[in-house]
Amino acid sequence: MSDIAKPVRQSQTTITELMIPSYANFGGKIHGGILLSLMDKVAYACASKHAGAYCVTVSVDRVEFLQPVEVGELVSLLASVNYVGRTSMIVGIRVESQNVKKGTVKHTNSCFFTMVAKGDDDMPAIVPELILEDHDDIKRFIEALRMKEIRSKVKGEMDDAKSTIDVRRAGDILKNERCRIELK
Ligand SMILES: CC(C)(COP(=O)(O)OP(=O)(O)OC[C@H]1O[C@@H](n2cnc3c(N)ncnc32)[C@H](O)[C@@H]1OP(=O)(O)O)[C@@H](O)C(=O)NCCC(=O)NCCS
Repeated sequence: MSDIAKPVRQSQTTITELMIPSYANFGGKIHGGILLSLMDKVAYACASKHAGAYCVTVSVDRVEFLQPVEVGELVSLLASVNYVGRTSMIVGIRVESQNVKKGTVKHTNSCFFTMVAKGDDDMPAIVPELILEDHDDIKRFIEALRMKEIRSKVKGEMDDAKSTIDVRRAGDILKNERCRIELK
């Protein structure tokens, strides 16, 4: 592991994979799990290049499957380290699917993986600072910082929401929802 600062471009990584029939679900489209696995791989490759260390996935934000991916398409995942903390990194991933015959490319998802570097003792290890070389690098770093702040606020609110649920008031709370209470 090295503690020398590294530019974003040094760890930028792209994986391209052909979508084969065994990746498809019963509807003939590519399984979300196949795409998630590819995202995890590219996030690992990108984060470990920056950290110069083994990394683990800690959390995943904003995974949405915006458009279906078809068998025969070429899926490319473009990953960059957007932000570094002390031992964590936020890797931004853009997923595109290309139909080579039609000459079309569709953007299917942009998501963010938080990865933590680990040392030989299996403890979180300090990662190199990130050198921001252009306006996009700066914008992505600030965006990630804001997202981190929002995530921690939302987590606090969700914990509060869970701990204050009163099932005795369920009849009122759920009166406009599409469920029925049939207690046994
Ligand atoms: C991630 C892990 C290393 C955190 O360990 P920890 O003892 O809580 O360590 P720390 O509190 O020092 O946190 C380490 C970093 O992770 C970040 N982190 C911890 N939990 C997090 C979460 N839920 N979301 C985002 N970041 C998180 C911390 O903010 C910290 O970042 P920083 O050093 O840049 O400030 C530990 O929980 C772990 O090993 N989890 C299992 C990961 C795994 O197996 N993934 C799937 C297979 S790869």
